[in-house]
Amino acid sequence: MKQLIIAIDGYSGCGKSTIAKDLAKSLQYVFIDSGAMYRGVTLFALQNDWIQNGVVNTKALIDQLEAIDLKFEINPNQPGKQHLFLNGRDVEHEIRGMEVANSVSKIASISEVRKKLVALQRKMGEHGGIVMDGRDIGSVVFPHADLKFFITARPEVRAQRRQAELELKGESHATSAIEKNLLERDQMDSSRADSPLIQTEDAVLIDTSELTRDTQLELVLGYVNALLNNE
Ligand code: CDP
Repeated sequence: MKQLIIAIDGYSGCGKSTIAKDLAKSLQYVFIDSGAMYRGVTLFALQNDWIQNGVVNTKALIDQLEAIDLKFEINPNQPGKQHLFLNGRDVEHEIRGMEVANSVSKIASISEVRKKLVALQRKMGEHGGIVMDGRDIGSVVFPHADLKFFITARPEVRAQRRQAELELKGESHATSAIEKNLLERDQMDSSRADSPLIQTEDAVLIDTSELTRDTQLELVLGYVNALLNNE
């Protein structure tokens, strides 16, 4: 059977990764969370003190881009879940916190960073059989993807879901602070010069505000099966 490339883009915290992960599992495809890669670069910049009071030392980061090695691997201590490794160290927990979330969109607006990550992402998808989620997957990384989805949800629903995720990780923040971060990132991601977040004309729009995890999976699987059965 044809090994598809499936692109899932959309706003911050609207459930893209959950849909992508569930879809990849049910199709036995590879799942790539491209946002984790931007978060990994952000963590690297924070570790080197290249982000001070929200201002990024862009030159230092660009000069050291080659020193950043990002890989998705299964951590043997937590089998079953893919983690991001930054220069050989499992950083899955650290990249999900608010400190990284507060700076990631600035880092993602740097063209040199995008160039490096987009090249890696294209390589990961070169043989198909992949579900990748992000902001520019259908527009820039895989403009010829077999299927594209654009995911959205109401801001308050997104903030509540993210708050629950953070709490599970031991971080407690007010819903208002989380909603502010999500909306600020949407604004920055949609207005940046390089690869802004857009809904491409050929993407299927899905609002997950009222959908359960199972229902949203059924919905996207319907599109995938229709495509596979028509080929
Ligand atoms: O999970 P959440 O929706 O909060 O965000 P994410 O997918 O982890 O992405 C974090 C940030 O990385 C986004 O706000 C974007 O600034 C950036 N990003 C991007 O520019 N391009 C992508 N393909 C993926 C993420």
